[in-house]
Amino acid sequence: MNGILKKILCASMAAVIGLSLVSCGKTSTMERIEKSGKLVVGTSADYAPYEYHTMIDGKDTIIGIDISIVNEIAKDLGVQLEIVDMSFDGLLAALNSDNVDIVIAGMNPDEDRRKAVDFSKIYYEAKQGVLIRAEDKDKIKTIEDLKGKNVGAQLGTTQESIAKKQMENSTLVSLGKIPDLVMELKNNKIDALVVELPVANGYVKNNSDLALSEITVEEESGGSAIAVKKGNADLVALIDKSLDRLMEEGAIEKFVQEANEKNVTK
Ligand code: ARG
Repeated sequence: MNGILKKILCASMAAVIGLSLVSCGKTSTMERIEKSGKLVVGTSADYAPYEYHTMIDGKDTIIGIDISIVNEIAKDLGVQLEIVDMSFDGLLAALNSDNVDIVIAGMNPDEDRRKAVDFSKIYYEAKQGVLIRAEDKDKIKTIEDLKGKNVGAQLGTTQESIAKKQMENSTLVSLGKIPDLVMELKNNKIDALVVELPVANGYVKNNSDLALSEITVEEESGGSAIAVKKGNADLVALIDKSLDRLMEEGAIEKFVQEANEKNVTK
């Protein structure tokens, strides 16, 4: 009985969904991808090892953990991959105005964002780090040590809200791109920069004048997920399927390792 009821319910729901598609005539993201034969991915390629520019055979190319992942998703969908690089704080607007099909950018699916878009499952977990100048390593060890100092964070990120909430005695400096913030740190314009730990570690590895501080911040919503415009459950399911495969194969760990090795961001 239960099984029959479920079938009836399912059939009538399918009918309703089918009707609403016909009646409103809107194309879903999946339909657009199939029609164009490409997956258009929005990202903010200033975030090594997640996504960053590098020279390959004399050509400026965007690589990183996230790019390797969407490459696999495009393959699974049987379409070409196109990357669109923009400011992090413009990504979800681009998604909701159909300028890109999906967004991958080391993005944490926090509560506010979940109101605006849907997310895949979490594909990678990372904590936050606070980047400082190496010479300040003994001076800046706690959040209190940042009192009266300038703290940088990327515009529109969870790190920006962490800095606002947890470092309220510091002056927040928000900029659109991470390399500009690192420059500010090197030039003494800011004294600390809140970023994802893998990003901080990459800069420490490649810049002897930078260091990771001992400061730990409270996590709000760790983990990165892929954003999709609301109302595209079919696409989210396919993305999750690819992510499951990649996680089972241990591919994501491999992408992380590769991206860290290739990361020479100064
Ligand atoms: N994880 C942070 C957030 O979701 C920052 C991500 C920044 N990503 C980037 N590609 N710049 O807000």
